[in-house]
Amino acid sequence: MDNSPPPPSALNNFRILYLVTQLVGITIIILVSCWIGIHLNGLGWSARPSVQFNWHPLLMSVGMIFLYGNSILIYRGFRYARKKPLKITHATIHGAAFIFTVVALVAVFDSHNLAKPNPIPNMYTLHSWVGLSAVILFSLQYVFGFAAYLFPGVREQLRASYMPVHVFFGVAGFVMAIAAALLGLLEKAIFSVKDYSALPPQAVLINTIGMLYIVYGGLVVFLVTERQYKRHPLPEDVMLLTHSASVGSS
Ligand code: HEM
Ligand code: HEM
Repeated sequence: MDNSPPPPSALNNFRILYLVTQLVGITIIILVSCWIGIHLNGLGWSARPSVQFNWHPLLMSVGMIFLYGNSILIYRGFRYARKKPLKITHATIHGAAFIFTVVALVAVFDSHNLAKPNPIPNMYTLHSWVGLSAVILFSLQYVFGFAAYLFPGVREQLRASYMPVHVFFGVAGFVMAIAAALLGLLEKAIFSVKDYSALPPQAVLINTIGMLYIVYGGLVVFLVTERQYKRHPLPEDVMLLTHSASVGSS
């Protein structure tokens, strides 16, 4: 494998695409907020289960899409920062994504269980199955990532051989989250947009959000899998490794 650092032109391309990715991610959150404010009667908690639902797409877009994508890009986006703070930031952003996700799940389960006059059944749609699988994969990935790379005393060889598995399932969970968000969006459009086939403004907004999920997902996966953009260890990281047996490179 070629271990030489990327040429400056590759890093320039990376920076431009990284900036576009951030702009697309922020636009998604703004558009989901506009959709909720303009078409779905805003936000509320369990006293108003029908609008409590609206936290679900908003917090999932922030947690499972925007923060998840940002966390897996952190090593490449901040390639000149030291490894240890990057690891802590990577774990912290994933932790924040997890908290947003749990609140988003509480919102949707409440909106089903507290619905009047009758509760709405849970976990019957393809969206809910794909979505919950993505959340379970994400949670397992967190536990294993934490145990392998933050827990002291794990053998360096074990850390290194687990890394391809960590990267594969990390990216797979993200792709599943994008798929779940697309299914959820379509489902909500079919449930709640009157006359979807006439393409009213709400339908255009929903379809645009869906297209942006795809653009964001595609950009994140490209940036995190392109070999030229991989972070290379800094001299400080290597020094730490050679001077202290207790500090790992991964
Ligand atoms: C990665 C992001 C997402 C995940 C992991 C996810 C997960 C879930 C889960 C597990 C449920 C089942 C709740 C229940 O059965 O009570 C659910 C329900 C629902 N979600 Fe999502 N969701 C995501 C994003 C979205 C988005 C962006 C929308 C767009 C509006 C959405 C719309 C819905 C709707 C309408 C329901 C209720 C119907 C059903 O159970 O399928 N979801 N979601
Ligand atoms: C849901 C949680 C997690 C997901 C989805 C995830 C995903 C990923 C992905 C996709 C990469 C590849 C990044 C790249 O090539 O630039 C990566 C790298 C890495 N992750 Fe995680 N990760 C998670 C949790 C953790 C945790 C808790 C730790 C503990 C510190 C950790 C430590 C690492 C390390 C050390 C790398 C290697 C970075 C490098 O060598 O450039 N991960 N992770």
